[in-house]
Amino acid sequence: MSILIRNGRVITAADDFFADVWIEGERIAALGADLGHLAAEADRVLDATGKLVIPGGVDAHTHLDMPWRDIATADDFESGTIAAAFGGTTTIIDFATQERGGSTLAALDAWHARADGRATVDYGFHMVLADLPPERLPEIPRLVEEGVTSFKMFMAYPGVLYADDATHYRAYRAAAEVGARISLHAENGIVIDEIAREALAAGRTGPEWHGRTRPARLAGEAVHRAASIAEVAGASLYIVHLDCEEALVEVKRARERGVDIHAETCPQYLFLDESLYDLPDFADASRYVMSPPLRDRRHQDALWRALAAGELQVVATDHAPFTLAQKARGRDRFTDIPNGAPGIEHRLSLVFHGGVVQGRLGRGSEALRRWVAVCSTEPARLFGLYPRKGTLAVGSDADVVIFDPDRETTISAADPDTHHMRVDYDAYEGMTIRGWPEVTISRGRVLVEGGRLRTSGGGRYLRRARVGELLR
Ligand code: URP
Ligand code: ZN
Ligand code: ZN
Repeated sequence: MSILIRNGRVITAADDFFADVWIEGERIAALGADLGHLAAEADRVLDATGKLVIPGGVDAHTHLDMPWRDIATADDFESGTIAAAFGGTTTIIDFATQERGGSTLAALDAWHARADGRATVDYGFHMVLADLPPERLPEIPRLVEEGVTSFKMFMAYPGVLYADDATHYRAYRAAAEVGARISLHAENGIVIDEIAREALAAGRTGPEWHGRTRPARLAGEAVHRAASIAEVAGASLYIVHLDCEEALVEVKRARERGVDIHAETCPQYLFLDESLYDLPDFADASRYVMSPPLRDRRHQDALWRALAAGELQVVATDHAPFTLAQKARGRDRFTDIPNGAPGIEHRLSLVFHGGVVQGRLGRGSEALRRWVAVCSTEPARLFGLYPRKGTLAVGSDADVVIFDPDRETTISAADPDTHHMRVDYDAYEGMTIRGWPEVTISRGRVLVEGGRLRTSGGGRYLRRARVGELLR
């Protein structure tokens, strides 16, 4: 199969130019000012006049088919990766999760079984380390051999995924030795759980207490502590779902003194705010219960500025969709509301709207390149997928999105053109945004075109490279 994309404006993290793109099989074979002579031999010719041609999105943070107590997130690898394709995302990195006391290699097998044969876009896995006693350390290099080159750890959720500081240090050392990155959920869960216990004892049980019991200072404290441990251990640290200025300040401070630290934020922290927890109806407020929580609007400005300045590197979704019925489990106690919200489908368009249309990532071409960087190139680089993913270059995978910068769309869970996630609400319900993916191509396969799914399945597991190495 060969595809010629004609007359588009090609945007990468580094460049912005008008060119044709020639795809042969699964890879990009040529980029050039006028490749019209190839039209006769192309299986498909796609006209991208007036459109942007960008590398497929890389979402470094998804939770498909993720267990939570006795339920699971509402999207599995089939529905979730189709929704991703509709949104212009062609690669995801999901979280395989070790059970406390269990084998990480067994967890990896279990996540392969969840994804294999179901995914439409390509996928990799981070491994969540729920614990890491010394006798399990030999699993770390084996995971890296399997292409799992990042490990998520938690300072939140005591008794579930929380690991103590000694375990953090042990894991950071082990990761550093094999060239893997540590991803961190940075909230001081020990103190947060105590505050939540106090709230419940005082009869404060509603969803509005979720955010109030998770002070931003305790996110800042956790980033500071983890960055200190990473500094001593010589590890590469990546803060996931960073939501507040307090955490951001600690990332910047650590970087200034030489710590290898990067961070992502998510669309929910850029567009939504804590006032949503005060919605009078439980069903409305509970849909925004996620950790870390939504904050007040001052944090949004700080996050956008940091993204534009390169102080934050990535926008990922933390897609963790639970239906309203699942959320209702916490009707009597906010601590029983499953944490997480859907978002895998809207990341590219939301960040385009806020970052490029509204100018929060800079002006004109500068904003366009930064948009591609934070949605595709930087996550690919940081997680061992570059340059196969995350850019448009000869030899890269033909993961290409033709993006209409002018199309205005109002997002709604009730509209099958704007919502393909298997969850009965949309976190961005009613929001009108400019910019929408028109065609999504993954390794030369047209997945979505003109609002219709053209190909499903065929997503492949990606063995990711180590920190600083290229993926061929
Ligand atoms: O609330 C969230 N973010 N749920 C997903 C799990 C996590 O901590 O990333
Ligand atoms: Zn987390
Ligand atoms: Zn997450």
